[in-house]
Amino acid sequence: MSTSPEKPPIIDYEGSDYQASFWDEGDREYEDHSERIALKRLLPDQGNLLLEIGAGAGRNTPRYRGFQRVVLLDYSLTQLQQAQEHLGRCERFIYVAGDVYRLPFVKDLFDGATMIRTLHHMKDPLAALNQVQRVLISKSPFILEYANKQNLKAILRYMFGRQEWSPFSLEAVEFADLNFDFHPKSIRKWLAEAGFELEKQLTVSHFRINLLKKGIPTQVLVFLDSILQPTGSWWQLSPSVFTRSQASKTHQVEESAGFFQCPECGEVLPEQELETNQFLCPTCSKTYPIVEGIYDFR
Ligand SMILES: C[S@@+](CC[C@H](N)C(=O)[O-])C[C@H]1O[C@@H](n2cnc3c(N)ncnc32)[C@H](O)[C@@H]1O
Repeated sequence: MSTSPEKPPIIDYEGSDYQASFWDEGDREYEDHSERIALKRLLPDQGNLLLEIGAGAGRNTPRYRGFQRVVLLDYSLTQLQQAQEHLGRCERFIYVAGDVYRLPFVKDLFDGATMIRTLHHMKDPLAALNQVQRVLISKSPFILEYANKQNLKAILRYMFGRQEWSPFSLEAVEFADLNFDFHPKSIRKWLAEAGFELEKQLTVSHFRINLLKKGIPTQVLVFLDSILQPTGSWWQLSPSVFTRSQASKTHQVEESAGFFQCPECGEVLPEQELETNQFLCPTCSKTYPIVEGIYDFR
């Protein structure tokens, strides 16, 4: 875990085999397919430049077919290296190592953003959402997945005295170091505070119970889940919730100048000189290297 006095702590995925152990060998086909369906329901048909926050090893990236270019942003360089191995080095994918709390992009740049299975690592979710709103063009969609503390399993465990924390209270529950479950009302409040208008909510992975996953064919569970997902408009009792919001901005949007900005001082960065393979901030003199096709802004 990396931390400093003024910045929220960041969970460390460096060197992690998350994609292999959690997804490829972790018996999570049901969750993966249910998430694919939810994403398909929420994504726009087309777009220009999408920001994928906490992209990890790029599990979801192939699902963003409608976008001409995708920026994969993750704090872990090794996760991005895995994504690059899997997706390849091409103009369509831009790999950026950076912190969601200090996004290294100019404002009003992206016409779409996603954040899947990443907010649950945020000690300061509102600060992260403020950053996402800053880099989105007005009216652009933002698809956010969060871990829901008010899920049916947690409610039953609480009622039968098997769990101390209340699933109904608004504060986040940190069930493991830097792993948080959030209350849907808190998420809606933070989205509004950050300048997002909530459009849609889908509840996902209703049947995330090992006994069910073992006893019932995956396709059946996925089908049932897909039927239940739209009930998220009325109540949210599943462990995972997908939302789509729109960035609403009041200021006049000028033509966005530049692409990257210095995460340290906010200065727009001039394009790097090809020979140096790094960006130099003209204001604070910080340098940011480009390592084998990955822009490193940490
Ligand atoms: C659980 S993984 C999810 C990966 C991918 N979204 C998926 O669903 O397969 C969470 C990812 O968020 C990244 N992450 C956590 N905190 C971050 C931060 N402050 N800034 C950028 N990325 C962060 C981690 O490095 C990790 O790759």
